[in-house]
Amino acid sequence: MAYTITLIPGDGIGPEVTDATREVLAATGLTIRWDVQLAGAAAAEQLGNPCPDELIASVQKNRIALKGPIGTPIGRGFRSVNVALRKALDLYACLRPVKNLEGVPSRFSGVDLVIVRENTEGLYSGLEHMVVPGVAESLKIVSEKASTRIAEFAYRYARANKRRKVSVVHKANIMKLSDGLFLDCARKVSRRYSEIETQEVIVDACAMQLVRFPERFDVLVMDNLYGDILSDLCAGLVGGLGVVPGANIGDECAVFEAVHGSAPDIAGKGVANPTALILSAALMLQYLGEREASQRVESAVHAVYAKSTVRTGDLGGNATTAEFTRAVINAL
Ligand code: NAI
Repeated sequence: MAYTITLIPGDGIGPEVTDATREVLAATGLTIRWDVQLAGAAAAEQLGNPCPDELIASVQKNRIALKGPIGTPIGRGFRSVNVALRKALDLYACLRPVKNLEGVPSRFSGVDLVIVRENTEGLYSGLEHMVVPGVAESLKIVSEKASTRIAEFAYRYARANKRRKVSVVHKANIMKLSDGLFLDCARKVSRRYSEIETQEVIVDACAMQLVRFPERFDVLVMDNLYGDILSDLCAGLVGGLGVVPGANIGDECAVFEAVHGSAPDIAGKGVANPTALILSAALMLQYLGEREASQRVESAVHAVYAKSTVRTGDLGGNATTAEFTRAVINAL
């Protein structure tokens, strides 16, 4: 079977890690035609729009994309392309599996959890204004529809992947209406999944428990901002941003990307760690139904860490992106 997949190289280290991932996927023997699309700073410069219509149309047509990180200017300039993409394609669920890699130093062992983050609303709705000079207001939107479908996604994922527990993360003690609605929707959905244990946990307590007993967590579902923060915290539990994969999934299409950003400090030097995007590509293969190829890619990455000393600089080694990629391909 041949696949056509949209490829968004992105900014900074994006082109380096997407090239590495393409090489690994080519080595699996699958036939993939890449529909390369610009986004971010490169698209703003060349096409006058950081999130061009052609890019959206390409993902809608191919229904699947592999994406490098895209930089977002802070406090000025264009709005986040990542947020715009998620909204335009209704990629309502952000999925981040976080698992120890044998051979990658971390303070914890036995971490194997999955963060499911609501991607379309909350404080990321972009509804901000200055009320009067010196006072800014930002609106947090929580709807029954979005809260129900993200809870449904989390429980469906838990059931399909034989997970035992879903932790619903909230702050409904303070935000009684908005987080209260989110929690209420999750409770209703949970009743249809009686074999799965439900834990309700307040976000600040959750952060504390995650850094004390991460092995007690399984699937966690939460709103946009809590998900953004806790998924970076969880990346830290297993060795950092360079090794955690991710996916943004909707009912029509899915975009697979690493958790890390464009790492401008090391861009263009050929030293970026491509692990996170290669593991995101393994998630993509699983989504496509290519279970065997997905397993082979994941096992190859695990084997490099468990059985060799090849490491990029972020993990204390001196291998280049190309050397690490070669090691993964050899392990395949
Ligand atoms: P970052 O993740 O780009 O970098 C944080 C630190 O981790 C840096 O020291 C960097 O060198 C290192 N790092 C990240 N990924 C690495 C990798 N694969 N290999 C080796 N080292 C790695 O976060 P930062 O600096 O906050 O953001 C930079 C830009 O990326 C910003 O414009 C931000 O908006 C954007 N960003 C984009 C994301 C996306 O497209 N999904 C996600 C997060 C940030």
